[in-house]
Amino acid sequence: MTGLPPVDYDKAQHRVYAKARAVGAETMARWMARFAAELPAARPLTILDLGSGTGRFSPALAETFAGPVWGVEPSEKMRAQAEAGAAHPAVRYLAGTAGAIPLPEASVDAVLMFLSFHHFPDKPAAAREVARVLRPGGRVLMRGEFGDRPPGVWWAPYFPRFETVARALFPSLDETLAAFADAGLHHLALHEVQEQYAASEDEAVERLKLRGISVFDHLDDAEIEAGFVALDADRAAGRLRVALSGRSDLLVLG
Ligand SMILES: C[S@@+](CC[C@H](N)C(=O)[O-])C[C@H]1O[C@@H](n2cnc3c(N)ncnc32)[C@H](O)[C@@H]1O
Repeated sequence: MTGLPPVDYDKAQHRVYAKARAVGAETMARWMARFAAELPAARPLTILDLGSGTGRFSPALAETFAGPVWGVEPSEKMRAQAEAGAAHPAVRYLAGTAGAIPLPEASVDAVLMFLSFHHFPDKPAAAREVARVLRPGGRVLMRGEFGDRPPGVWWAPYFPRFETVARALFPSLDETLAAFADAGLHHLALHEVQEQYAASEDEAVERLKLRGISVFDHLDDAEIEAGFVALDADRAAGRLRVALSGRSDLLVLG
């Protein structure tokens, strides 16, 4: 499967994303500690949150690094959610794309791409833009999904095309590294970060049913509904196996 159409976050995801993908305090603290370990101890640091969505991470970045955060996001409705639900005096949400970042060159200490890179239509152009806005010695922090490192999510067996779509949607680690190497940014580390996705099975299922995961945008309603019927049947029979936490990849480049 190739050439999947881009997910339009203005269509449906903006309505459910913040609730479906809420990050608990402990997981947020774990991410911030991981990011801090990759960045200089000096404060303030200026951070670009590229593909900032509903601003899940932007306020915590401002708090952790005591500096300005630019949340660059093309979807007007995701930005509106960010402005309503993730406002912070040090955070500005800007309209823009990874291919044309609305910031001057050498203006940020780090660029966070949290589950956004795979959405960028022109990855080499995005890598060049990231390299342009980074200060010398700056770091790229990418919470990525890589087609050749599938995380093996617990719900995948209910949606037979899930893995195929995921593989088509996510670039491989090598493709990702090649795009950045051409822009002069090189592989420094790949960490596995343990994330808590939900506090209980009920919460995990309730959130999944919101479909706030972009792979669902590439499945049709009939297969999604059939998947949830099978999932509910397993749940009623006590056969559902939900993983409330799992590993997430953080790629560091510089
Ligand atoms: C899965 S969401 C992640 C949002 C946020 N980083 C988070 O973790 O909550 C992906 C985001 O990437 C944005 N996006 C899609 N294409 C983009 C592009 N070309 N440049 C920047 N962001 C883009 C989408 O609009 C969406 O808000």
